[in-house]
Amino acid sequence: MEKHYHIVTYGCQMNVHDSERIAGMLIELGYSEAPSLEEADIIVFNTCCIRENAENHFFGNLGALKALKREKKDLIIAAGGCLTQQKGMAETVHKKFPFVDIVFGTHNLGKLKDYILQKRDGYKKSIIRIDEDTGVIYEGSSFRTSYPNAWVNITFGCNNFCTYCIVPYVKGRERSRKSENILAECRQLLDEGYGEITLLGQNVNSYNNGSDDLSFPELLRKIGDMDGKFRLRFMTSHPKDFSEDIALAIAGSSHICDCLHLPVQSGSDRILKAMNRHYTRDDYLRKIDILRKHVPDCAVTTDLIVGFPGETDVDFKDTLSLVKEVGYASAFTFVYSPRTGTPAAKMEGQIPENVSKARIMELVELVNSQTRTMSKKYIGKTVEILVEDYDEKRGLYLGRDEHGRMGYFSSDEDEVGNFVNVKINHSNGVSIMGDKV
Ligand code: SAH
Ligand code: SF4
Ligand code: F3S
Repeated sequence: MEKHYHIVTYGCQMNVHDSERIAGMLIELGYSEAPSLEEADIIVFNTCCIRENAENHFFGNLGALKALKREKKDLIIAAGGCLTQQKGMAETVHKKFPFVDIVFGTHNLGKLKDYILQKRDGYKKSIIRIDEDTGVIYEGSSFRTSYPNAWVNITFGCNNFCTYCIVPYVKGRERSRKSENILAECRQLLDEGYGEITLLGQNVNSYNNGSDDLSFPELLRKIGDMDGKFRLRFMTSHPKDFSEDIALAIAGSSHICDCLHLPVQSGSDRILKAMNRHYTRDDYLRKIDILRKHVPDCAVTTDLIVGFPGETDVDFKDTLSLVKEVGYASAFTFVYSPRTGTPAAKMEGQIPENVSKARIMELVELVNSQTRTMSKKYIGKTVEILVEDYDEKRGLYLGRDEHGRMGYFSSDEDEVGNFVNVKINHSNGVSIMGDKV
């Protein structure tokens, strides 16, 4: 009888892509995707621990599986990723949820296949295996689920140790994939008909730092020079490493999208320093000026944290004024969440929840109003949308324009994967709607 898998993913795009790798392994083991979680023979959780609510989601969903596991004795449940990689966490998961069969981390993701085989061979106990950071680079195949977009890892891990952030502790030291492997993967994806490639790394700007392989702008140019109709995106850029050469690479290739995700986190120099971000507000604004000098219509997006320890009303006002000054196309906004083991969790001046809540509401209102204004400016214009999906409920196709804005339109044809020109006649918050032309 055919065996099925179901994967539950939390966290960032890198985790989404890691789940595509896990799917690749499961398919090699003879599983196919389950129509629903209940019908799966193996369920894999790919976890995240960036903020407390990411952890809570996972524990809630895992707890709910106890009954299913009791009913289905052969069901294999595995949990891995960033949360389980945290110190002592694999044992905690095992203790709290003894019905979990396999617990693995970030550095031994490639070994999940072996652990599953071991379980299928009748190994009775739970397999709890966490490897230390070995600097390993996984080059296995993926089962891609996001056509027409394809994710391509270029770096793994992070060396930046921003004081609030858990990522360096769970993903290990930064390492770069060989450019020849990245270029071959991109070429193959374009030959297979993917319309968009997104390069992934915690800090793509420092790709191959200190090695004689291609630098990040060189890599961008090489991929940007490839033939075919496609878009190239990349994330995430760290402001301290964002250079004029990257702006020039964006300007120099019609394939590289005129948009940049440049997380600023805060507009206050005092807080940026306490965060260990290695730039000031002015440094950041100068980089935005350089970017806009070369790529005038570049859409800039960002990440912002409120309620970092010691953040005063004045610091918060600095963040608001920076948001106004830059004019972000959109922004992800977060309330600071203390992460055990990071320096910020031990800092004095932790901010009470009611203060953080009030700040995030004010910030979200500002960001949303900017986003709405920008969406309105699209009305009357024609944009090219790369179609990603069909929204059954609304009966509309959806996809993004070059700047990352989500656009909707109707069509009688199957448009997924097509580049379609849409004349915009309506906007609604972050999205735009119009007619195919
Ligand atoms: N490597 C990327 C971001 C990775 S995490 C970068 O440096 O930009 C994505 C975002 O989560 C971060 O940009 C930050 O805004 C947010 N974040 C990270 N740790 C957090 C924490 N402890 N509390 C709240 N937000 C956090
Ligand atoms: Fe975390 Fe900072 Fe690294 Fe981004 S650059 S992953 S925020 S430590
Ligand atoms: Fe991503 Fe969460 Fe890990 S944001 S890198 S999955 S901690």
